[in-house]
Amino acid sequence: MPQKAPEPPGLAARRVAVRLVEGVLSRARPLDAALEAEHDPSGFRSLDERDRALARAIAGVTLRRFGTLRGLIAARLDKGLPKKGGPLEAIMATAAAQALFMQIPAHTAVDLAVAGARADPDARHFSGLVNAVLRGIVSAGAPETVEDGQDLPPWLYARWTRAHGPARAAAIARALATEAPLDFTVKSDASGWAERLGGLALPTGSVRLAPGGRVADLAGYGDGAWWVQDAAAAIPARLFGDLRDKRAIDLCAAPGGKTAQLALAGAEVVAVDKSAERLRRLTDNLSRLGLSATARVGDASAISLEPADAVLLDAPCSATGTIRRHPDVAWMKRESDIGTLAKLQTGLLDAAVRLVAPGGRLVYCTCSLEPEEGERQIEALVARAQGRVTVDPVAPDELPGLADAVTADGFVRTLPSHLPADDVRLAGLDGFFAARLRVD
Ligand SMILES: C[S@@+](CC[C@H](N)C(=O)[O-])C[C@H]1O[C@@H](n2cnc3c(N)ncnc32)[C@H](O)[C@@H]1O
Repeated sequence: MPQKAPEPPGLAARRVAVRLVEGVLSRARPLDAALEAEHDPSGFRSLDERDRALARAIAGVTLRRFGTLRGLIAARLDKGLPKKGGPLEAIMATAAAQALFMQIPAHTAVDLAVAGARADPDARHFSGLVNAVLRGIVSAGAPETVEDGQDLPPWLYARWTRAHGPARAAAIARALATEAPLDFTVKSDASGWAERLGGLALPTGSVRLAPGGRVADLAGYGDGAWWVQDAAAAIPARLFGDLRDKRAIDLCAAPGGKTAQLALAGAEVVAVDKSAERLRRLTDNLSRLGLSATARVGDASAISLEPADAVLLDAPCSATGTIRRHPDVAWMKRESDIGTLAKLQTGLLDAAVRLVAPGGRLVYCTCSLEPEEGERQIEALVARAQGRVTVDPVAPDELPGLADAVTADGFVRTLPSHLPADDVRLAGLDGFFAARLRVD
């Protein structure tokens, strides 16, 4: 029997990258879920460590630049994408990403894309087209200018332009072009840890390193001296101030970054999440940190608990503030998701208010850039609560170095373009909204 020709080296990593991108474009699997799953259909787990890193990097760059890549491909297809081409667009986009944005030799990227197309039962009919389109793209080279927002889905950029104005929307889009840094919340001594880890102590209290490297290999991880948490994500729990001798409820708590902050601030914490599996991660994380909380599996919109002095609601949301960290989010979401999530948040907010003891504080936050999941929620809550809920405004001096992130109404609104730095690898923040409310 004739032996099957061995696969060209590097093809397995490209095939997995195409499947990872396909999983996102078909809205079937977020990138992290695929990378972390024991058995993912992409085959990511079956790769060796080097190929895993390569597949992950190709998928990440492709999704970060996907709007631009899609435009370059479409410009070379007179009749649009063939209907029955299977993963054709993902094959071409991942190859163009390698050649234009990853310093991978163009001929390697193109040859492996053609080989990948030939090996796919649908795309194989179009391997000549793959070759022609990609040769055209690589010979023209990377576009000299990318218009602001061109990397993003048009509906999302149009939304940000309406919500934040054209100049801010453009600054946000530019900030998303770079991978997010690695931020830590430290138990104490931020400047000491910044020095030990070779990072930066941010004015907000977090420690920042350039992206890359294995977190578990860093000093202090095993001793539970810090945990990974975006500097913006660390703001909401700090808005409660000192919590010694107070009780706190953290609704939607897993994997527990904010629970850890509440426990560290001295509170006796009940951490609620509807996912038992994610709550297990919360308890593992807290035990590494030597902190404690009572974990309760339950639906935050219906759970019955003794009211507490401090309630934190980090509600499920569109996560459009985290696209810098998770470029797949832009392509997983539909505009209609925002309205659906906003309804869910309204129900959760009403339930959260009922869990605050009179005179206590509720902090509501989302990692979204959409006003419907932030400012509009709080305005509507205050109106329907008829005096029982009032905004306890955040003062600009509560956020040193980030006074820009405090709005005229006393809300916190961080943007990916905040905290600029000369070294772009150390710049930016997740986009978060947070409001502190007093409940009587
Ligand atoms: C944005 S994440 C929370 C992140 C967490 N606060 C932290 O800082 O690590 C949202 C969480 O809400 C949980 N969740 C979603 N809907 C919920 C509900 N109705 N009740 C309780 N938890 C819910 C999800 O399982 C998920 O773990």
